[in-house]
Amino acid sequence: MRMRNLYRKPTTLRCNAGSRCYSASAVIWSLLGCLLLFHLYSNIHHKHGEGREVQLRVTNHPQFRELQQVEEEIIQLPPQKGKRSPRAAKRRHKRVTPLVDEFLDEDSRLRHVFFPGNNSAIDPVKVTGNDSYYYYPGRIWLDTDRNPIQAHGGGILYDERSNTYYWYGEYKDGLTYRAHKRGAARVDIIGVGCYSSKDLWTWKNEGIVLAAEEMNGTHDLYKSNVLERPKVIFNDKTRKYVMWMHIDDANYTKAAVGIAISDTPDGPFEYLGSQRPHGYESRDMTVFKDEDGVAYLIYSSEENNVLHIGPMTEDYLNLMPVMRRVFVGQRREAPAVFKHQGTYYMITSGCTGWAPNEALAHAAESILGPWETLGNPCVGGNKMFRIATFLAQSTFVLPLPGFSGSFIFMADRWNPSDLRDSRYVWLPLIVEGPTHHSSEYISRLPLWSRVSIYWHRKWRLPQGWSTFK
Ligand code: GAL
Repeated sequence: MRMRNLYRKPTTLRCNAGSRCYSASAVIWSLLGCLLLFHLYSNIHHKHGEGREVQLRVTNHPQFRELQQVEEEIIQLPPQKGKRSPRAAKRRHKRVTPLVDEFLDEDSRLRHVFFPGNNSAIDPVKVTGNDSYYYYPGRIWLDTDRNPIQAHGGGILYDERSNTYYWYGEYKDGLTYRAHKRGAARVDIIGVGCYSSKDLWTWKNEGIVLAAEEMNGTHDLYKSNVLERPKVIFNDKTRKYVMWMHIDDANYTKAAVGIAISDTPDGPFEYLGSQRPHGYESRDMTVFKDEDGVAYLIYSSEENNVLHIGPMTEDYLNLMPVMRRVFVGQRREAPAVFKHQGTYYMITSGCTGWAPNEALAHAAESILGPWETLGNPCVGGNKMFRIATFLAQSTFVLPLPGFSGSFIFMADRWNPSDLRDSRYVWLPLIVEGPTHHSSEYISRLPLWSRVSIYWHRKWRLPQGWSTFK
């Protein structure tokens, strides 16, 4: 040390004489002190304040880092067949990509890739040890009775009273048919299926919590009508579980929302009736309960050309006379809303019926807008897979407790030729880092975070995720 000091070049801070030496070291010591204080402050702040999530940032956790690895997927498409069905020819005309064209072909040689068979089903009752908790997007997923889960177009409620997750969705275990030659494939209403879980992997069938009406042909829930995309939120004031859903007739001309309530998350739900929200058509829809307890209805309207957003009344049984029109003329549907660090995000799909299309992520400072589109959030797979949302359509985004910025993206891989056999595509969704569009917005605030949905053939949540709270 001494030797080094002897040969060190003089610097401006070097002490040559009494007072200069004292003032220089005083400066250094105060600088060091400031640094130390700042360090201590930020540590305490991060531990106890709203900065807690900084400690738990997803990139800081090795298992979340793993989920953010880009995983490629090679899908070798068979050569185009000479003669395709008129329906397929029409699709090609509509510029459906070759992958989606193949996917929609009932006789595709890749059917087992898009819809893997029973022998690869996810079976939480059977699987134990190291193989547990893995999600395999697209595979059949069995409940604890070892039947395929029927919760399509669904959403999840975390019930704080019982520390249990409830997954609600369309129970579609019936025959697929067309009501009219040119109508969409459909299954008669059976009801809303409900499943409960503590680990988001093992699901117990809680039964049909809102059932179809078998006799009364004028009832909204009469079996030949349509009940889609049910979502449940809990009202802290009335202590009721409130379900909102898309209610329609077989031709999708009623275009309304239905509301049902229950005292318990596992039903039975009492159907209260339907309405056209704000007097407008409503087809694909979702609900979002904000941190301040205000809930919103988000629905595709005006022939699916515009998305409407409006707050509910305090009891969640109606709407306030407030509504904003967003994504005007953009034809977005299948909305799924979530929030991260005060910013609202939304994933939507395009409007192509049961056929997959490109998802978009959007962001807003206020849920009522204005909303900005960030682009396609899909990462990995391959390009055709990404612009088809991994052959699925958004339905819900579930926040993971404790890990700020980490979510599960829930989507449906619809099987239009046998809707009951539609599959679930669950993938990690991470909000972090600058958006791909950041240069465009560089001079403007806010700078949205990037929303990424990572493709994985097989993945699981970081161990102990539920105790990170
Ligand atoms: C989709 C919609 C589904 C269902 C389907 C019927 O566009 O997202 O929920 O309504 O059309 O074809």
